[in-house]
Amino acid sequence: MIKLVDVRKQYKAGEDIIEILHGVSLEVKEGELVAIMGPSGSGKSTIMNIIGLLDWKFSGDYYLGDKKIAGLYDAELASIRNREIGFVFQSFFLLPNFTAAQNVALPLIYAGVSANERKERALAALNKIGMQHLADRRPHEMSGGQQQRVAIARSLIADPKVVLADEPTGALDSKTSQEIMDLIKALNKNDKKTIIIVTHDLKVGKQCDRIIFVKDGDITDKLEEF
Ligand SMILES: Nc1ncnc2c1ncn2[C@@H]1O[C@H](COP(=O)(O)OP(=O)(O)OP(=O)(O)O)[C@@H](O)[C@H]1O
Ligand SMILES: [Mg+2]
Repeated sequence: MIKLVDVRKQYKAGEDIIEILHGVSLEVKEGELVAIMGPSGSGKSTIMNIIGLLDWKFSGDYYLGDKKIAGLYDAELASIRNREIGFVFQSFFLLPNFTAAQNVALPLIYAGVSANERKERALAALNKIGMQHLADRRPHEMSGGQQQRVAIARSLIADPKVVLADEPTGALDSKTSQEIMDLIKALNKNDKKTIIIVTHDLKVGKQCDRIIFVKDGDITDKLEEF
């Protein structure tokens, strides 16, 4: 489903070039639930941004499904991203003046879906995760866990094959964190979504099929303290 081959990522800092990823290769199979763990600054979000087609300035190869990503135009990347990838973030990133239902429906605007159908699908998506009663609430009227559920519903609304979650439980207490993990595991199992989670929480990592460890811009197979 996802294959990175010898991916390098560099930034220019004045005259200098700083290399952040030093040849990362990894593979995630369709239907897998995988955690990426590693110290702060090791490159986890950088890897996620590349997988999520948010960052295409890297060297090496990236295959998403049967498509080779390198060399595609921005518009093609955006269109693949909108159709095939859902995003969940630590700080939810809900629009503050939009209701839960409007936030969930947002990706469908870019997909050109009519207003009526957007509303219907957003309510169905909220219903599916037991959140329909909060459809008209705005983010500040919801708990962190509820906001993250809305963000997860939004990530799924366009029916992507892949969901990328960068520290989805990072802002939540341990009980709420486990509820969000249970939801993520159900999406993986029942809806067959391929899911990658970046986490600092080994309890979260251990609930995934597999943990990929990152250290100083490299994949490492050693579990170390961090
Ligand atoms: N735009 C940028 N320019 C230069 N360096 C950057 C830029 N973005 C990130 N970096 C550097 O790249 C490295 C990896 O960052 P990244 O955000 O991928 O780490 P991370 O593993 O996600 O960390 P955290 O756990 O704190 O979120 C860091 O050293 C960071 O300072
Ligand atoms: Mg990060």
